[in-house]
Amino acid sequence: MDRLKIFVTRRIPREGIDLLRRVADVDVSPQDGPLERKKLLAAAPSYHGILGTMTDRIDAEFMDAAESLKGYANYAVGFDNIDVPEATRRGLPVSNTPGVLTDATAECAWALLFAVARRVVEADGIMRSGRWKWWGPLQFIGGTVRGKTLGIVGAGRIGTAMALMGRGFDMPVIYSNASGRKNGVLETELNARLVSFDELLAQADFISLHTPLTPQTRHLFGAEQFARMKDTAYIINTARGPVIDENALVAALKKGEIAGAGLDVYENEPTMAPGLAELDNVVVLPHIGSATRAARAGMATLAARNLAAMLKGQKPETGLNPELFD
Ligand code: DGY
Repeated sequence: MDRLKIFVTRRIPREGIDLLRRVADVDVSPQDGPLERKKLLAAAPSYHGILGTMTDRIDAEFMDAAESLKGYANYAVGFDNIDVPEATRRGLPVSNTPGVLTDATAECAWALLFAVARRVVEADGIMRSGRWKWWGPLQFIGGTVRGKTLGIVGAGRIGTAMALMGRGFDMPVIYSNASGRKNGVLETELNARLVSFDELLAQADFISLHTPLTPQTRHLFGAEQFARMKDTAYIINTARGPVIDENALVAALKKGEIAGAGLDVYENEPTMAPGLAELDNVVVLPHIGSATRAARAGMATLAARNLAAMLKGQKPETGLNPELFD
């Protein structure tokens, strides 16, 4: 039989490519940015395995084109770019990369939390521009972190890690889950409380989002929810941009309905809602939650192992439709 062929739609850490080369011939997209849709569709029929990222839409149209495909490995934990039910219906195994980026993303949430609460980026800007003239009792007054209530929306792997990392700050932790299920680790380790979404909005001083993007979580935060938050509260989003209605966020920040926002993700990446970038009470990062050397290498090797398994007809370690192998 001819050698199997794999296509990698973005440049990824070498460890992943090296693994793939042991099992197949590998082509890597030479371009730095996301692959245009028509290039992805044109490439799809020639490959047995594709390793892509969240900028590739893996839907029925793609699956129609990818006629020889035996597996698709997502280089991301979030998989809102994949139509998993459609893949399952067609018997196409697909996978993601949970676990390896948990700490990196949780750390990023903390970086945003501190940066926005203590106005780190604004203050850094003053230093760099040479506008700082003297120390001042009223300069750059921000919010306290220690002892404040941390509200986790979506207490899965990353939400749990984020809350556990905060142990030293003595923050009462409350959380809400779409499933309504209790998180035993948070309850045992931190005395955290599962609360209703409404209670979380009203009680939390810092709300950190860790929910996947689903039809139910799209615009989970809009004008009504911001109005119900404390005006001293901050929102942190390292999950998916569309969980927040970004125009409503800009309006809430302008009106002072909430104190600030730390964002790593956006509704229409790479653009930001009009007005967001002009606000001082936001810290905005270019979707770097998983951007540590260890996490990105871990994502590359896990995605590669998953794809290698799927090409052999075996169950991937972190498959999204494991029922195909039952
Ligand atoms: C993911 O994995 O879903 C992140 O958004 C990118 O690492």
